[in-house]
Amino acid sequence: MNIIVAIARDGAIGRGGDQPFYIREDLRRFKALTTGHTIIMGRRTFEALPKGALPNRRNIVITRQTELSFPGAETAANIADAISLANDPETYVIGGGQIYAQALPLAEKLYVTEIDADVPDADTYFPAIDSEQWELTEAGQWLTDEASGVKYRFVCYSRK
Ligand SMILES: NC(=O)c1ccc[n+]([C@@H]2O[C@H](COP(=O)([O-])OP(=O)(O)OC[C@H]3O[C@@H](n4cnc5c(N)ncnc54)[C@H](OP(=O)(O)O)[C@@H]3O)[C@@H](O)[C@H]2O)c1
Repeated sequence: MNIIVAIARDGAIGRGGDQPFYIREDLRRFKALTTGHTIIMGRRTFEALPKGALPNRRNIVITRQTELSFPGAETAANIADAISLANDPETYVIGGGQIYAQALPLAEKLYVTEIDADVPDADTYFPAIDSEQWELTEAGQWLTDEASGVKYRFVCYSRK
């Protein structure tokens, strides 16, 4: 199972239920990697999607409220159930903070967009990526998002 995440300085990934940054090339990469595959997310991240389930992907939502149902998505009661329901080697955990923390010990590969910006009012964080457990296997050049001026780069880690 893979994790895909955009992380700003100090591990910040969210504020007020939303992502701190929307970078066009990051969204494009997210779509290219996940389309045709399975995505797993927490109920809060699913409910923040502006148009509901993401198209052309199998959407699995983790919730303790097993009576809930979501259009275009399946539900699972925890991360282990979600992974076994997915039964797909090309599965991506797409957030948010609670689900990343539970998925990180189970993941084999991390697709990280590093965002070189502070998020002073962040309320959601990605756990530390421990260099004893994770090897940096790819690191792209730093790029600049034209719309926001924010610097970012794509990196990958594989479990050692
Ligand atoms: N930067 C990025 O790449 C990125 C990506 C995605 C999201 N985000 C950000 O992350 C934030 C949302 O993260 P979050 O931590 O608040 O929420 P979340 O992880 O998206 O969802 C939390 C929900 O997942 C369910 N859940 C969590 N652990 C569970 C367990 N062990 N068993 C069953 N269900 C479980 C619960 O749903 P119920 O309450 O229904 O039981 C819980 O309320 C937002 O700010 C969002 O923008 C950032």
